[in-house]
Amino acid sequence: MRRVVCKGERLGLRDVTEADVDALHTIYGSPAATQYAPFAPRDRHEVSGLVDEAVSAAAAEPRLLYVLAVIDAERPDVIGVARLRIEADLPHSGEIGFGLRPDQWGRGIGTDLVRLLLSFGFKQLGLHRIWGARSPANLPAQLAMLTAGMVEEGRIRHHLHTPQGWRDSIVHSAVEDEWTQR
Ligand SMILES: CC(C)(COP(=O)(O)OP(=O)(O)OC[C@H]1O[C@@H](n2cnc3c(N)ncnc32)[C@H](O)[C@@H]1OP(=O)(O)O)[C@@H](O)C(=O)NCCC(=O)NCCS
Repeated sequence: MRRVVCKGERLGLRDVTEADVDALHTIYGSPAATQYAPFAPRDRHEVSGLVDEAVSAAAAEPRLLYVLAVIDAERPDVIGVARLRIEADLPHSGEIGFGLRPDQWGRGIGTDLVRLLLSFGFKQLGLHRIWGARSPANLPAQLAMLTAGMVEEGRIRHHLHTPQGWRDSIVHSAVEDEWTQR
């Protein structure tokens, strides 16, 4: 199994473990952090199930799903969660998703997290294309991805079904050769 450890200046990424359930629940269970997600805030039991799936996925060969705890570089605290998913028939391409604990917002950490995910995907996984989809209303995610170098590609209509109904998504992407030049 490939274990993930990735370090940036302010953040680190590592595989989630069962010990992270409570920390991850502060994100997946938060109405603020899930306001643009296609699901209602999760309860602790649901988060525990997500962690079980993540641990199983980490052992798969080839590995197609990375669910990573975002760690404060100065303390062992889990301050966020990041996902990178590869489709089996598009092995050069990965989709990212990310969320931080609300008490961490507004200090540039989200932008740093996107940068770290791009570095992880391109350098450690050897991907060529990394993309993410956000709600059209999610301005912090838009700015974090743009500042980290992920250009807007366009709109997927009725991409997700949410508790409020169908939702469009705006897709951002980065490709390896452009990213290397930056
Ligand atoms: C998206 C998210 C990770 C951004 O994290 P963050 O640490 O607040 O992001 P940053 O501090 O790097 O801010 C990114 C940009 O958004 C701006 N911003 C942050 N919060 C904002 C707000 N509430 N309203 C308007 N702009 C905001 C910042 O000023 C910054 O803009 P700049 O680059 O022009 O300076 C965080 O809001 C989050 O976890 N949201 C819930 C989960 C989510 O929506 N994930 C994205 C799924 S695609």
